[in-house]
Amino acid sequence: MIWIVLILGIVILGALLYWQLILAEGAYLGRFVVTLLYDWSARLYDRIKSFDPGYEQWFLGRPLSMALGVLPDPLILDVATGTARLARTLFQQAGFHGRLIGLDYSRKMLQEAVKETRPWAEQLTFIWQDASQLPFEDNTFDAVTCLEALEFMPDPEHVLREMARVLRPGGIMLITNRIGSGARWMPGRTYTPDTFQSKLRDLPLEMIRVQPWQEDYDLLWGRKPGMDGPVGLRRLEEILLCPKCQAHVSHKGQIFICQNGHQILIAEDGVLESARISTTRDL
Ligand SMILES: C[S@@+](CC[C@H](N)C(=O)[O-])C[C@H]1O[C@@H](n2cnc3c(N)ncnc32)[C@H](O)[C@@H]1O
Repeated sequence: MIWIVLILGIVILGALLYWQLILAEGAYLGRFVVTLLYDWSARLYDRIKSFDPGYEQWFLGRPLSMALGVLPDPLILDVATGTARLARTLFQQAGFHGRLIGLDYSRKMLQEAVKETRPWAEQLTFIWQDASQLPFEDNTFDAVTCLEALEFMPDPEHVLREMARVLRPGGIMLITNRIGSGARWMPGRTYTPDTFQSKLRDLPLEMIRVQPWQEDYDLLWGRKPGMDGPVGLRRLEEILLCPKCQAHVSHKGQIFICQNGHQILIAEDGVLESARISTTRDL
């Protein structure tokens, strides 16, 4: 009898671990576990995903570049940028001359992103930061994107509100919604297509368009109502806020520093390490 209970226990534990770690990719175990799993798989990520450049260009790079077309130097924030899949296809578009900030909480994914985007390094900034707090002024970006990541965040709706906050009026939001069998394994983190659209409308976004994309994801395009606000390229000091006290920061050599002495280090690979703030007292 004891053996049956033991074997049953092991099977249930194995199934639970498979659900939590493989199917849900650590989503219910907190951002530390999610990030750890992405840190571990960062070097293999592109091989696992085997992105097809033509497909990326057709569904992401070209339509986003065209949507931003009339702006001379659009400024884009890619939340949970991973290995910079969006940046790579966008910068290959002939008509695109903007700047992109890629934010992610996995430092190792950002390391890969830096390596993969060397030809466009001048137009890119990567920030190591949790998406639940976007360290930017309101109404800043011409486009805010987040692909295949929202369901891994502890509070996806909060991240959506943050994304809408930093998007300028008239700006474009491009986001994925998990669908299909994958979504069934992530209750509370995924939404039916109708619910997701209504959440986007509540942000508020308008002109929402759902585009079938992959077996596991729909693409959703939307626009923030209104048409004012600063447009295009600005220096990082003008838009970056201290993640600890929300004060403006200034650039001094290898750091960004706010009036309260909180420092964001610019690492050797150029990544802004805002997830690890130090103060002048630490020196
Ligand atoms: C499936 S990958 C998607 C990466 C990229 N957007 C793409 O489409 O290839 C999910 C990404 O979300 C990031 N991520 C998960 N939770 C995060 C959080 N709380 N803040 C920022 N990034 C997060 C992971 O580190 C990982 O790079």
